[in-house]
Amino acid sequence: MPVPVRYSLAAAILGSLILAACGQKAAAPAEVAGEAPVVETAAFEPQADDFKCIRDMHPVRGFFVDNLLGELEATIAVAESETGGVYPPGSVVQLVPGEAMVKREPGFSAETKDWEFFELDVSPAGAVITVRGTHEAVNQFGGNCLECHAKAEAQWDLICEQTHGCDPIPLTAVMTKAIQNTDPRCPPVDDLPPEQIEALEILKAFREAAAANANP
Ligand code: HEC
Repeated sequence: MPVPVRYSLAAAILGSLILAACGQKAAAPAEVAGEAPVVETAAFEPQADDFKCIRDMHPVRGFFVDNLLGELEATIAVAESETGGVYPPGSVVQLVPGEAMVKREPGFSAETKDWEFFELDVSPAGAVITVRGTHEAVNQFGGNCLECHAKAEAQWDLICEQTHGCDPIPLTAVMTKAIQNTDPRCPPVDDLPPEQIEALEILKAFREAAAANANP
């Protein structure tokens, strides 16, 4: 004898109510246990106009930091820590206007500790992203960002500075300062110190020689 239609409908509704109730309980264990819910960082995608005049960022020793998700204080705390730490998502770190590291959302890339590397083309009109990713970008001297920065000792979260274990780059502190002071997106610095003008001339000659070597 077939089951009456009305009975099977009622059973189906009851069944789905029980399932829904169970599902709800399983979905919110933190609330049930009274624990603070885990805050997850939503995925975000840095854009060219996130990169601004380098000197408008927050200076930390020789480099600059920012945070695209409004967590600048947390970024500064790690950058200024004497024992290192893990930079929070949204952190932007730059030494020179044309290269940047951005800490993406957790899970973005285990290989890069969630950092994304950028090559930027900067002009008075702003920044254009020319290369971005986990292992695609190379610096102005042809070195791969990840390969070099991955050599930083673990507690520094891929930040090199001069003493964290990375291979050196051929820029003196004066050269770096001169490059930062001539970011074309920033208001010009009047009266650049003579040693910085000289540093820029040495860099220009170095680049011309490298270009001539590449295209004889
Ligand atoms: C050969 C190694 C090497 C390569 C390749 C390299 N870097 Fe660096 N990078 C360094 C070193 C060393 C410093 C520290 C320089 C200083 O403080 O004078 C540095 C500094 C930086 C900083 C400032 C924070 C820090 O780590 O000290 C950023 C941001 C950065 N590099 C991004 C990049 C990006 C992006 C690329 C690729 C486009 C790149 N680097 C390629 C070695 C490298």
